[in-house]
Amino acid sequence: MARAKDSAHQAEALREKLRYHEHRYYVLDDPEISDAEYDVLMNELKALELAHPELLTPDSPTQRVGGKPREGFVKVAHSAPMLSLDNAYNEEELRDWARRVEELSGRAEVEYECELKLDGLSMALRYTDARFTLAVTRGDGTIGEDVTLNLRTVRSVPLSIAGAALKKTHMAADFEVRGEVIFPTKSFERMNEDREKQGLAKFANPRNAAAGAVRVLEPNITAQRRLDFYAYFLLVDGRVHIEKQSDALDTLETLGFKVNPNRKVFKKIDDVLTFINKKEAERDSLPYEIDGVVIKVNSTALWQRLGFTGKAPRWAIAYKYAARAGVTQVEDILVQVGRTGKLTPVAALKPVPIGGTTVSRATLHNMDEIERLGVRIGDWVQVERGGDVIPKVVKVLDDKEHPRGRRHFHMPEHCPVCGGHIVRTEGEADHRCVNANCPAKLRESILHFASRGVMNIDGMGDSLVTQLLERGLVRNVADIYELNEEKLLSLERMGKKSADNVLKEIEGSKKLPLERVIYGLGIRMVGERTAQFLAEHFGSLDALIDASEEELLEVEEVGPRIAQSIAEFLKEPSNVELIRRLEAAGLQFKGTKKVRGTALVGQSFVLTGTLPTYSRDDAKKMIEDAGGKVSGSVSKKTNFVVAGDDAGSKLDKARQLGVAVIDENGLKRMLGK
Ligand code: IVH
Repeated sequence: MARAKDSAHQAEALREKLRYHEHRYYVLDDPEISDAEYDVLMNELKALELAHPELLTPDSPTQRVGGKPREGFVKVAHSAPMLSLDNAYNEEELRDWARRVEELSGRAEVEYECELKLDGLSMALRYTDARFTLAVTRGDGTIGEDVTLNLRTVRSVPLSIAGAALKKTHMAADFEVRGEVIFPTKSFERMNEDREKQGLAKFANPRNAAAGAVRVLEPNITAQRRLDFYAYFLLVDGRVHIEKQSDALDTLETLGFKVNPNRKVFKKIDDVLTFINKKEAERDSLPYEIDGVVIKVNSTALWQRLGFTGKAPRWAIAYKYAARAGVTQVEDILVQVGRTGKLTPVAALKPVPIGGTTVSRATLHNMDEIERLGVRIGDWVQVERGGDVIPKVVKVLDDKEHPRGRRHFHMPEHCPVCGGHIVRTEGEADHRCVNANCPAKLRESILHFASRGVMNIDGMGDSLVTQLLERGLVRNVADIYELNEEKLLSLERMGKKSADNVLKEIEGSKKLPLERVIYGLGIRMVGERTAQFLAEHFGSLDALIDASEEELLEVEEVGPRIAQSIAEFLKEPSNVELIRRLEAAGLQFKGTKKVRGTALVGQSFVLTGTLPTYSRDDAKKMIEDAGGKVSGSVSKKTNFVVAGDDAGSKLDKARQLGVAVIDENGLKRMLGK
């Protein structure tokens, strides 16, 4: 008995310590202990909870991730509408707004509370009994989507609120916090680099990426994205009860939320404008994107008096910064070749300073975009750097000072790097170099193969790969495994110690599991997740090589385009030869096949209503384990609809389309149960 109590105390003490350190690290940005020390505490708690599952609490720091992927999001009504803001684009519009506020409030002096306008997406977090219970997206302002599991992975969202903090702030244990989920610029850039390596499309800006991460059905993916949450409203029963917004923000801070420190109260609009200009100057050094300043009337009592216009309150306004733009001349249009052979036209610009950096290149994406803009070499163009990472050409100027350029750009017929054939598939915007041995593709594919998250060969970065290619020591990824000390020592700036390190890393990569090898091959459209499914499905590279396109289509999340891309890759004899050489080098060619039955192969199911004994998840798993597919909506391709009690529109649709409807017993029979 005493033992059990000890463990319970120990677990609670560890949880409290971890919460304290998480708050220091993720909210205050001021850690007291090292990551390693934090990991020790976390592992201790994990071990304790594993040994005593009864001690596990939902708000334990060990429980941020672990949710299973879901089928969709549940809609939730907001406690009070989530509104948007009216904008002011210049000094005059801001002064007009302030004048109106002063008139309507009947006061000569109004306090203005200024905050940064973070460029993310707004979110409502509900706390019940001091625990984080619900996160809802803005949606249409009245109804949003439940993204609780994803928001649990955001470390600056407290999973529970300390009793002492509630007491200190005189807060009830049930309340709602509203604020902004953002993608810090650094994490955003790192993610885009990873996506590029995987041959996936990059996100245009941190806001889109944050929205994407919040709405994925797989909380583990949100967790990898390192999002952040800044609080700016505190509601109790759907209402603001603290008299001043500035005090509400202080309260939020005391409760453990991250509140942006760039905030200040002013009494004069002149001072507000100074603040706005000062923050604009600091804009480029902030670790996240902002698109302006939000000015709120500080007295919340006045909020009631001022009311709303349409969808926006009169008591607040967003002062929006202009997109960071510049005008410059297109000196040339160059073509870059990526890992998959995609050709990207890039404008080489006369260098121009825009928002803190010198811009000398801007992407033109593809031929369609060049035609849309009508851009020629020699043109003067307007270039913008929004929240977007890569500057873009927004328009071509045509006036006295900015005469039109003369040279039209044409996509080369041969690859600018290797001279190989260029192909543009019908219906696609992109041109591609089809030469499998194109050095540009080669360089990118070797970098991808060696990168963190793939074969993890530390030290094999840009400069080493460039040298290896220049010396002809590496012509494809299999050559990596034929490197030795002598070859490496022949390179510049390569000592014995670094050479040995690289060789050790290469040796280490041989132990990495099959899915990494598949991912490392750099097959178009095969990212980390697809590689994982392929490894699980086939269990070996040989089985994958032998698979037909139909068999590939049976793999989870593999559709016709991915199947075709894999089949094309494996049809190419030089690719198969490369794979054989990797096998000879001793890489992992066998994995653990997830055993799946075959009873329901090729059959697709839709589940609806409540089944008498199986849960939705169980039924889905059993169908999938038997080789069948489960999808969310009924179409002509659906083979069976499994209907339980209270089946709704899916059942109607099945009847309408003449799709077979079965009940749980029918399903059991098909499963041989
Ligand atoms: S107040 C009616 N404060 O800007 C209340 N919004 O254009 C509106 N935003 O939907 C929200 N930073 O997503 C507020 N400090 C801040 C903000 C902020 C960013 C976003 C928010 C809102 C949008 C309105």
